[in-house]
Amino acid sequence: MVAQTIPVDDFDLVIIGGTGDLAKRKILPSLYRRVCAGQMPENARIIAAARSDFSQQDYKDFIRQALEDFVKSKKRNKKKIETFLERLTYIKLDATGIEGWKELSQSLRAGAVHAFYFSVGPSLFAPLAERLMKHKITDENTRIVVEKPFGRDLASAQSLNAVLARCFREDQIFRIDHYLGKETVQNLMALRFANALFEPLWNSQHIDHVQITVSESLGVEGRGAYYDKSGAMRDMMQNHLMQLFCLTAMEPPAVFDAASVRDEKLKVIKALDPILEGDMVRGQYRSDENGDSYQNESGNPASTTESYIALKANLSNWRWVGTPFYLRTGKKLRNRMSEIAIVFKDPPHSIFEDSQDLKGNVLTIRLQPDEGINLSMTIKEPGPGGMRLTEVPLDMSFADALGEDEADMPDAYERLIMDVIRGNQTLFMRGDEVEAAWAWVDPIIKAWEKSGAKPAQYDPGSNGPDDSLMLLHKDGRRWREIT
Ligand code: BG6
Repeated sequence: MVAQTIPVDDFDLVIIGGTGDLAKRKILPSLYRRVCAGQMPENARIIAAARSDFSQQDYKDFIRQALEDFVKSKKRNKKKIETFLERLTYIKLDATGIEGWKELSQSLRAGAVHAFYFSVGPSLFAPLAERLMKHKITDENTRIVVEKPFGRDLASAQSLNAVLARCFREDQIFRIDHYLGKETVQNLMALRFANALFEPLWNSQHIDHVQITVSESLGVEGRGAYYDKSGAMRDMMQNHLMQLFCLTAMEPPAVFDAASVRDEKLKVIKALDPILEGDMVRGQYRSDENGDSYQNESGNPASTTESYIALKANLSNWRWVGTPFYLRTGKKLRNRMSEIAIVFKDPPHSIFEDSQDLKGNVLTIRLQPDEGINLSMTIKEPGPGGMRLTEVPLDMSFADALGEDEADMPDAYERLIMDVIRGNQTLFMRGDEVEAAWAWVDPIIKAWEKSGAKPAQYDPGSNGPDDSLMLLHKDGRRWREIT
């Protein structure tokens, strides 16, 4: 199978925050890989803007090192790296002052698509939008890309949306959630809507429950100061897990376009029941053998911020009423593993003696690592001696099915940045969607802030706090292993 690359229109991409971590680790390496894939027009340019004093040469050296650090060695090619670096321009810019704006405006080419990537702290999103307007740098075709976090509650998301709406049309605003750019997440839509097999079963009549897990093995690392103000609810649940949940639960859109897909996702969020107090568990990792606890790593010894959250979400609509969705995410857990597991109901009646072994099928979509799809099936154990049943996986790892090279998936940012240039918003969040997600999580956060309850402790390298087991046990279910 040969990957198809559809070239995009000529563009000037301005990365505001061009010296930051995201630019270095993700945005520029992704752009380099798109150059290698032949998708970037020859004249397309990248303008990095930031506060630091970098000469053009210093910036190129800085990015050369970033490519060395963050692009796999087999994808690095000296000549291509140099050609890529030639596309870069660095501008010293004061996001809230006057320095650099004139130069930025003069550096943009007429006729090219202009995209501004706000790869900066959230407090600068609104001022940046306003500056772009004030300096008349934008036109009809301008696009802005806004990173997460998009607000920290409903009120702040609404006020950010209001500022952006004063400066841009909704179809110019690209709110990024990098989970939507992951190949396997897009595959979830292909699995559901390009195969006739599953959709008739995709409802509460046949599905017992769904488990969505995004487990990380690393702790908060160097991001303690940011993370401690967010916690797992704001950092992961309100956005990444919510998106996975929406794509799993939504009705088939009539067509695969931005308006239809986002309308369907919004309906899912609006059909969510409020979370009951007993249907949620917050956790925080305690110290490991090196004494590294969450509280140490976050730099806040009295922190009550959660590094783990698990909850049970119920949807009040025809398709899903009675089928709970259990969502969990956490840091410093046993493994890095993300999956969506659709647990089908047990067969209604067994004709076999060995019936205690009859279990419902489980369809698992593995997002990372080892991307693939797995369906657990019950078969007869081989050999004589009666009808003994056993469970086996019908396993499709993308690496096996597509070959190692094809399965070497593009990074989420590669796809998403090219979609910005194309003007395709299907894999970006709409303003009302973000607000609806906050409207659902806000009362939960407020309730626990009011109660002052401390998160349950869990051991680094474990499956999370014991209390989270109870969340499923009380419903007669159990979490899947984090392997
Ligand atoms: C980010 C969160 O959005 O996603 C991080 O801020 C988290 O805390 C990361 O580690 C996980 O992304 P991925 O692609 O590594 O699963």
